[in-house]
This record gives sequence, structure tokens and C-alpha cells, in this order.
Amino acid sequence: MSYQIAIDGPAGAGKSTIAKAVSKELSFVYVDTGAMYRAMALLCIREKIDGGNEDKVVSACDSADVKITYKDGAQVVMLNGEDVNGFIRTQEVGDMASTISVYKGIREKLVKLQQELGEKENVVMDGRDIASCVLPHADLKIYLDADVSVRAKRRYDELIAKGQPANLEKITEEVKERDYRDMHRDNSPLVRVPEAILVDSSYMTIDEVKNAIIAEFEKVRK
Ligand code: DC
Repeated sequence: MSYQIAIDGPAGAGKSTIAKAVSKELSFVYVDTGAMYRAMALLCIREKIDGGNEDKVVSACDSADVKITYKDGAQVVMLNGEDVNGFIRTQEVGDMASTISVYKGIREKLVKLQQELGEKENVVMDGRDIASCVLPHADLKIYLDADVSVRAKRRYDELIAKGQPANLEKITEEVKERDYRDMHRDNSPLVRVPEAILVDSSYMTIDEVKNAIIAEFEKVRK
């Protein structure tokens, strides 16, 4: 029998950091579903496909081979046999991922892959539709949120730390736009399902959030 922990929430709430920390502590497999949408987005950018052209996006992604493997415990996304981890973390790829993830043809392919991963192992899976669609019977469902201003500031600090130019006002607008798109699309929008436990990470440390989630898991562990 395997355990499933679903963590959903908006961009910048800290899902991947937290999901990674929780999976490490429990020795579960971490599945970052956003990385799969990002790999598809990278493919579209490389092939110069307009993200607004659903037919072209879906047909390009249909024939693409996306796989998840693990190297030293970390998830590696393989796109047509290439490790693309190093190319998918840019703002451009994130925005394209948000744009093309509205298409049913894209979601069906990736959800199937995610469900297969969730059946085999104890998993902590993060995304937007994990509790509502991918793992509807997950043992624990967390909705990880944070104030828009806090999420924008985190992104701003990240860019500054990398020595890249950043404008807090512009980033705040981009975060709001991404939230709107992810929450208002027709196919599997980001929602907090009623049974999901809300964790607001705005003023919590990573350890506090991790411990809160582990404590919730201990309550449901059989
Ligand atoms: O979590 P992330 O920033 O890596 O996700 C990038 C985009 O992919 C996000 O804006 C929406 C989409 N996504 C999705 O639609 N469903 C998921 N389960 C994960 C991500």
C-alpha cells in the first residue's frame, strides 16, 4: 500500500521547497508536476510555436516523449531523451507553461503520467490540480498559500540573489496574472478542495511549514 500526499497552491507559495523537504523527511518520492508542464513549454519555445495556438501546441506535445527519472534522489525531467532540468526554471518557460497548461490535450497526457507515478510509490506530489484531479483519493491534501506581496518579494529576492535585474512592482503584476490564469481556466483550475488543509506560509519558516505538514500526515498515517 502506498501513501499519497497532495500539495497544491499558487506560484511562489513554496510548494516545491516544502514538498521536497517533506518527501525527504518521510523518505517518499517527490513528484514536481509543474516541471512536466515546463518541459512541454520548453519544447514549444524551442520549436517557436505560438502558445496561443492550441492545435499546434497539442500536436507538438502529443508526439513528445516526457519521462521522469531520479538522480541522487532528485527528479530529472527527460524530454525526448534529454535531461532538461537546467532549462525549465526561467520566467519565460514558467509563463509559457501557465499558458499551455490550459489545454485539455496537454493535461490529459501529463495527468496520466502523474497518476502512474502516484500508484507505484509513496509520493509527495505538488501542482495545481493534484487533490482535485490527479490524486483525488490522496491520504493528505494540503493547500499551500501565501500573500501575493510575499510571493512577489520571494521571486524578487531570488532574482536579485542571482544578480539579475528585478522590479518588484512588475513581478507583483506577473504573479497576479499567473494566479488569475491558473485559477480561471476551464480545465482543472487551481482550487482548494473542501477537504484540503490550508497552510499559509506567508510568515512561516520552511521548517515550520514542513513540520505542520508532517504533523497532519501523522494524524492520517495508518
Ligand atoms: O509550479 P510551477 O510554477 O512549476 O508550474 C508552472 C505552470 O504549470 C503553472 O503556472 C501552471 C502549470 N501547472 C498546472 O497547470 N498543473 C500542475 N499540476 C502544475 C503546474
